[in-house]
Amino acid sequence: MAQAETSKVYRGNLDKLITQINGSRGIDLGQYRRQYLERRIAARLRALNLHTYRQYGTYLDEHAEEYAKLLDTLTINVTEFYRDAAVFDLFRNQIVPAMIDEKLRTRHRMIRAWSAGCATGEETYSITMSFLAGMGEHRNNFLLSVLGTDLDSNALTVARGATYKIEKLGSIPSEHQVKYLEVEGDVFHIKPEVQRYVKFRPLNLFSDKPISVVDVIFCRNVFIYFSREQQDAVLDKFWSALSRGGYLVLGRSEKLGKEASARFELVNSRERIYRKPMGT
Ligand SMILES: C[S@@+](CC[C@H](N)C(=O)[O-])C[C@H]1O[C@@H](n2cnc3c(N)ncnc32)[C@H](O)[C@@H]1O
Repeated sequence: MAQAETSKVYRGNLDKLITQINGSRGIDLGQYRRQYLERRIAARLRALNLHTYRQYGTYLDEHAEEYAKLLDTLTINVTEFYRDAAVFDLFRNQIVPAMIDEKLRTRHRMIRAWSAGCATGEETYSITMSFLAGMGEHRNNFLLSVLGTDLDSNALTVARGATYKIEKLGSIPSEHQVKYLEVEGDVFHIKPEVQRYVKFRPLNLFSDKPISVVDVIFCRNVFIYFSREQQDAVLDKFWSALSRGGYLVLGRSEKLGKEASARFELVNSRERIYRKPMGT
């Protein structure tokens, strides 16, 4: 009982803090999942040795630079190349060839992919390398373009640099290492012939207009931060952005809600791959 009361008081204070942050910086924290916010703000409280949301509110008032730190904490961009390798294997071996067949049949030459919430670019380059490997001999018959977007412009600067620490090499299939990367001391670079297909730009999935007419959207390990309502709103945007028959790839721990499941076709439940039906 005492605990329930404590957590109620705690929640009340968090609402006040959220309102304060929204009001002073226009960072709409209300869109994020409650538990996620609690965990991340708690990390800032611990770092500053503060004990209540109210103290944190006062600290924010007195230290404007803390807003940037809070935003950094909320947009953790932990990522890796070929994260959950099975999804990229499936993408390269089944989805890309199916897409190519369909494009040949309908005589379309453009292939567009969107890596939404791409962090420092590892996912975006993994998609591009998988496309190049999966397209095989058709590679030069199509105009491939892969766009990586994220809220965090510092992460995008890293992505554009296309240079990563050698420790990240391990998750990249060895044949892709040979074909698409250049090792230099303790870093490696993505070769220009891969980079030429890729662009990065800032985009907030909550408030910015989505990219239009894409054949595949990867949005992995991003929805975990969003409330169900917000996920549905973003899924609506993805629905409009996808071409007919276009694919949507979510993260391993992410699932479509009821409404979205009724609209999207399931392609692979384990790898969380969905599709906008052809006849829509
Ligand atoms: C954990 S990373 C995932 C990176 C990559 N997709 C992966 O699966 O490895 C989540 C990314 O989502 C971004 N993000 C969080 N909220 C966002 C929003 N509202 N709009 C766009 N990106 C957002 C963060 O900045 C972060 O880079």
